[in-house]
Amino acid sequence: MKKKVFVARAIFPETIARLSEYFEVDANSDDRNLTREEFCDRLGRAHGVFLAGERVDAEAIAGAPLLKAVSNMSVGYNNLDLPALRERGIVATNTPDVLNETVADFGWALMMCAARRVAEADRWTRKGAWSGWSYDMFLGGDVHGSTLGIIGMGRIGRAIARRAVGFNMNVLYYNRSRCPVEVEREVNARYVAKDELLKNADHVLLVLPYSPDTHHTIAERELQLMKPTATITNIGRGGIVDDDALLDALIDKRIGAAALDVFENEPRFNPGFLTLDNVVLTPHMAPASEFTRRRMADLAAENLIAALGEGVNAGHPPNIIDV
Ligand code: DGY
Repeated sequence: MKKKVFVARAIFPETIARLSEYFEVDANSDDRNLTREEFCDRLGRAHGVFLAGERVDAEAIAGAPLLKAVSNMSVGYNNLDLPALRERGIVATNTPDVLNETVADFGWALMMCAARRVAEADRWTRKGAWSGWSYDMFLGGDVHGSTLGIIGMGRIGRAIARRAVGFNMNVLYYNRSRCPVEVEREVNARYVAKDELLKNADHVLLVLPYSPDTHHTIAERELQLMKPTATITNIGRGGIVDDDALLDALIDKRIGAAALDVFENEPRFNPGFLTLDNVVLTPHMAPASEFTRRRMADLAAENLIAALGEGVNAGHPPNIIDV
């Protein structure tokens, strides 16, 4: 008899077809946001689950006696209670690497959008406010030749740093641990303390995962250190920035602008951001190129198939989360 797999959100038909080769698939094909009860109920009948960030905690695990594998279609996994999964011997997997360049592109797009006021100018132009030239229309900060501060120098941070070479930027980075010298040389970045980075960067880019250790890496104190013209871009995770403190800094113009793809409590976020022109808001879409989404879906499917003992990698999923 085929094992049962629950696919928590709509996904490419090809992914469902691939999973169906091995499993009986219970797919949330109409992509309705399931209630927690519905989610736990369907999880409770599954041997494996394909997730797009849904919370799998001790309570959900306790109600899922058959569960053997949890496949996250994301590199981040702060939605998973890893100790609780480990205790039950449930394999957890994610989709690293395949999204690095696409997320780096998007971080760059957001940073430029914030620095050069692109979204604000677009809104203004659409509403018919453009009546002619003026010397101070949408003056912003340069990106080329400026100082970029990257907080979180993992694979995505490095991809961002590599792009900075073409913009002739001075790149500073801060990370939990310093990168090997060869990496620093390759990406042309200098390791500094977090406070030094914040004081000197014209553009700060956050690429950290969320954990209790990274909670509010940027809060009131850190924002006070930044230049009044600086931009801050968060493509890491909600919760690494204290969004309320950021909102206050933007209102008071203590920093220049922000660009946010991730938020505390997303998909809800502080509505105060909507009242400001110096912030760019996007709905957690950094990996959303067609090519990369497909690669993430393929990898998440492969991980699940292997974790449930099927396919060419049976028993050896390529991306076990092992922390
Ligand atoms: C990831 O893969 O973690 C991205 O942030 C999408 O969730």
